[in-house]
Amino acid sequence: MHIKLQDVSVNYSGKKVLKGITTTFETGNIVMIIGRNGSGKSTLLKVLAGLIDFAGQIIIPGKYSDISELTGYVFQNPETQIVGSTVFEDVIFGLENIGLSKTEMETRAKYVLDLLELSELKFFDPYYLSGGQKQRLAIASVLALNPEFLLLDEVTAMLDKNGKREVLNAVLKLKETNKGVLVATHEINLFLPYVDRCIYIEDGKIAFDGNPHDGAELYRKAATEKFKKMQV
Ligand SMILES: Nc1ncnc2c1ncn2[C@@H]1O[C@H](COP(=O)(O)OP(=O)(O)OP(=O)(O)O)[C@@H](O)[C@H]1O
Ligand SMILES: [Mg+2]
Repeated sequence: MHIKLQDVSVNYSGKKVLKGITTTFETGNIVMIIGRNGSGKSTLLKVLAGLIDFAGQIIIPGKYSDISELTGYVFQNPETQIVGSTVFEDVIFGLENIGLSKTEMETRAKYVLDLLELSELKFFDPYYLSGGQKQRLAIASVLALNPEFLLLDEVTAMLDKNGKREVLNAVLKLKETNKGVLVATHEINLFLPYVDRCIYIEDGKIAFDGNPHDGAELYRKAATEKFKKMQV
């Protein structure tokens, strides 16, 4: 399944922050989205989540009426996304508005909690979970809605070393289930060995799209150049 962007642009109060993005995303692979602070990574994910207005075109498969039906967005800080008073309730909460039967909701909850290795914590209060567990729960709750694409925005940034590993493993599980995964991140080394493709955004435009190692190298070079200029 594909999502096609054609000449997608975003303005924030007159300032262009995405400038004519043309690309395609497909299910079954992981795309790492890199670029300096303020380059437009989160804005791109928010467009794909259906959260903000844009100019240009997004083409989705005919059976969907809106991009938000195809995608699920996970934020940097899991605290802002967790609403249930138990792990299980948190997953169920999001499902209550989409008209599923009780059995169907429970089946989906079981599936995502098993997949992300949270079943043993089912009746725990999320407040007491570790950062990595909280972030896995945030991913599980979004995954329960069954989007084709997961949009992960700096989901490892606030975690310790173990938490980062846990979430990385969760991302790999998503790929196994044939979801499309877009990971906006500054933690290039963590994800690099596992991603299929890298998009490097510079000042609202795609500066590179392709082999992750080449993309990471280009980004590092640009960062070093910038650093050198700052020194003079
Ligand atoms: N709600 C907003 N209103 C106005 N400007 C915004 C808003 N959100 C983001 N911007 C601006 O849009 C540009 C792109 O921001 P964006 O958050 O997409 O960058 P990013 O690549 O995700 O950065 P970071 O690495 O810091 O997460 C920045 O200049 C930012 O200041
Ligand atoms: Mg961002």
